[in-house]
Amino acid sequence: MSKSVLMCPPTYFEIEYEINPWMSKDNPVDPELALQQWQAIYDIYTKQFGWDVKKIEPQQNLPDMVFTANGGLVIDGKVALPTFRAPDRQAETEHFNNWFYANGLQDFLEPKYDFEGEGDALVWNDLIFAGYPWRSDLASHSEIASFFDREVISLQLADARFYHLDTCLSIIDGDTVALWPEAFSVEALAKIHQTVPNVIEASEHDALAYGLNMPSDGTQVVVSEGAPDLANRLIELGKTVVTTSISEFQKSGGGIKCLTLELRAS
Ligand code: ARG
Repeated sequence: MSKSVLMCPPTYFEIEYEINPWMSKDNPVDPELALQQWQAIYDIYTKQFGWDVKKIEPQQNLPDMVFTANGGLVIDGKVALPTFRAPDRQAETEHFNNWFYANGLQDFLEPKYDFEGEGDALVWNDLIFAGYPWRSDLASHSEIASFFDREVISLQLADARFYHLDTCLSIIDGDTVALWPEAFSVEALAKIHQTVPNVIEASEHDALAYGLNMPSDGTQVVVSEGAPDLANRLIELGKTVVTTSISEFQKSGGGIKCLTLELRAS
């Protein structure tokens, strides 16, 4: 299945500030390695998976713009823009807004409450799973639900290392998700089990290697090479699995899916 996604080259990617437990200015990024790792993901999407990858121009002093998953949530050609919690990232919104507008998208929501785009909102069939409270407000979920006219299932996250929903939950296909249970409140975990027929539990080891930050088109997935057990589970499920290294992005608390925003057309 083909997908259309948005990526941002890591030209200005570095650790300039610390806004999650993974980031430390004492643990700098190797820019050349970051570029190689980013390019490898781009090549997997375009050459191996046949996805359509669009690019947004990186901006100086906005090092986290590379994580386009936080640039919005796009469903049916409509865009919920991000309202970033950290002041360091707030200037990104205008650049994403301009890109969407220049690329023909016209229906926008500017959430009043903090909302960090697809980082905290994952589309599963007709539903949206949405995470809080680390980086998005629970109150943003009803804004999203009415804008897209979709049911939103709110999931409380319980471990600050897994501060965006897409670090601890991945959508694999129409029947299947993968997750690390301890990143969720008891109620949140119960809601997922009540909703999704097939729930794969990753190990803490694989979750910490950003294995769950995994883009899938239902048949093809890219998995962090630090998460071999998870990769094997997906192979057993019949998926085409490609693994790749994301060490430099993990220094910023990001992985493969964070570098990717899905553009769901109308
Ligand atoms: N350094 C970025 C931040 O803390 C990483 C964003 C990761 N994005 C994601 N979708 N999980 O905002």
